Amino acid sequence: MSEPLIAKSEFDGIEQVVHLSAGGETPMLRSHQNAIRQFTIDKSRGERARALQDDVLQATRKQCAELFAVPVDSISLLGSASEGINIVAYGIEWKAGDNVIIADVEFGSGVFPWLLLQERGVEVRVVRHKHWQIDINDIADQIDDRTRVVLISHVSMFTGQRVSLSALSALVRSSNAKLVLDATHAAGVVNVDAGLADVVVSSCYKWLLGVHGTAIFYWNKERFPELKTPFLGWNSVSSAGGWQQPTSMTLRDDALRFIPGNPSFISVYILHNALATLAAVGMQRVENHALELTRVLWQGIDSMKRWELMTPEHSDARAGNVCIMTDRVDEVARALRQRNVLVWGTYAGDERLRISCHVYNDRDDINTCLDALGNV
Ligand SMILES: Cc1ncc(COP(=O)(O)O)c(C=O)c1O
Repeated sequence: MSEPLIAKSEFDGIEQVVHLSAGGETPMLRSHQNAIRQFTIDKSRGERARALQDDVLQATRKQCAELFAVPVDSISLLGSASEGINIVAYGIEWKAGDNVIIADVEFGSGVFPWLLLQERGVEVRVVRHKHWQIDINDIADQIDDRTRVVLISHVSMFTGQRVSLSALSALVRSSNAKLVLDATHAAGVVNVDAGLADVVVSSCYKWLLGVHGTAIFYWNKERFPELKTPFLGWNSVSSAGGWQQPTSMTLRDDALRFIPGNPSFISVYILHNALATLAAVGMQRVENHALELTRVLWQGIDSMKRWELMTPEHSDARAGNVCIMTDRVDEVARALRQRNVLVWGTYAGDERLRISCHVYNDRDDINTCLDALGNV
């Protein structure tokens, strides 16, 4: 555990710093240069380019399917996690009086898309945290027979809490609602049993070691066949009538119907390399490593008796983030930066600091961070 799982030298720019910012942005793998190079070579091959790009897209979907333990045809690669949540918001036939449940510590993109539905009579119900934790019983209290969606992050970007997906799934499946899971802070660091949800979205530029421009969208078609695609383009269809019958087309069976046009292939090439890199390490090792480093970090912070920890201690209830509430977030982040410790908190203007541990971190990083926190 004292060694990183992937050497710092395999990434750009982190050998001289303590990079504990994976919850915001992970550093770039140096091997991504080869992926980008391959993309530029493939793109330059005329008509053949499209077949080569499609091969990489299919291979990347397969990797995502393996990561989530779901069928490959249920995976799509959209532009962002936010786009995926909006697809659900506009892919449901709402009726006035329906409701959606979200938590007060949810990321903005998990909340705002539903607000636009209020003018159609859809109610947005907010579950309040207690001591920074979301309790599944409080979600249960808000569900009724008009609840259509429960949206929750598997791991909270704000508090670091990991909710029990099996408990949440059992709860939602005992109702008429669908479970929309934002796995952005889970995928790439802890196991995501996506089949327990009805839709899963995840950004790829954080724990998955990819970049912006592509995000995973899982569609549980068996459980949620009525989800419509709000956008249609050439890529959404399996056959089309052409100039003779321009208005005739057949929708694709699989989750690619949710991508109307070309995906960001360059981002997909990078994600392909990122997922291969993580798979070569082994996802169980990645999870164990993050949980061990966050255990040491959590206990070290707790023992100082001067920080308000938002993240639960138990390893089942956290992942790679440890979050602290402080009214001195700028000052603390600045003090850490002086020791070359990079954390996340000042960007969003929140009164909380997020410290994230991933494959390139080691015990020395945690010790340096704890030492710096002890001296703020
Ligand atoms: C929980 C969560 N979901 C989604 C996102 C961002 O998603 P995207 O930029 O892919 O829409 C973030 C970014 O911080 C996040 O924390």
